[in-house]
Amino acid sequence: MAKLGVNVDHVATLRQARGGNEPDPVTVASLAELGGADGIVVHLREDRRHIQERDLHLLKAMVKTKLNMEMAATDEMAHIAMNIRPDLVTLVPERRAELTTEGGVDVIGRKDDFKTIIKTLHESEIPVSLFIDPSIDQVKAAHKVDADTVEIHTGPFANTSDPESERTELDAIANCVRLAYKLQLGVSVGHGLNYHNITMLTPLEEIEEYNIGHSIVARAVLVGFDRAVGEMKTLLV
Ligand code: PXP
Repeated sequence: MAKLGVNVDHVATLRQARGGNEPDPVTVASLAELGGADGIVVHLREDRRHIQERDLHLLKAMVKTKLNMEMAATDEMAHIAMNIRPDLVTLVPERRAELTTEGGVDVIGRKDDFKTIIKTLHESEIPVSLFIDPSIDQVKAAHKVDADTVEIHTGPFANTSDPESERTELDAIANCVRLAYKLQLGVSVGHGLNYHNITMLTPLEEIEEYNIGHSIVARAVLVGFDRAVGEMKTLLV
């Protein structure tokens, strides 16, 4: 059965809206684990718009499953990661003006940079995932720079309502998933996945992990966190 990583950034967004201390993403991480989450995902952004370093320290102590820290490939973030020592670092691109992560990292264009930061994180025994667009060449490049896992960006698939584009995007994801599996990379997918579109991906048996945030947090507001996570888990069977 594929694993579910629950991204709790949006809980922190709600907290930051009032600048206080609730709701607490650390408490919610425990509820998500009770609901069946196989991992907790947080993105420490350079502008600290939602998750704070305090959250990461507490999550590292509290999370019983797996802590996946998303971050930009910068020296500042590498230092923080080496201090926190999450179970996985996922390198993502970052633009301050974006509402959410908009695309995958360009491994092909920045091969040397990725090789260096991956080597640094590996020296601290932190495995590294690269969040990439569904491109065969990016998968090959991720393998070359010694990534442990690739997370294939499912945003364009999730965001199209045109059936033909949806099929094209799905094929691109499937091809990358199969190649990554063949290259013995860990295979994750994420971005824009919800209780409806997930069923189009689950036939791809090579996918090991789904990283989902917004749709689970949105449902949790209505039905509670453990139920929202549990309902997503049942779709992964
Ligand atoms: N994977 C990555 C790399 C992301 O940056 C995000 C969004 O923070 C997600 C998965 C989760 O996306 P969503 O909130 O749309 O489920």
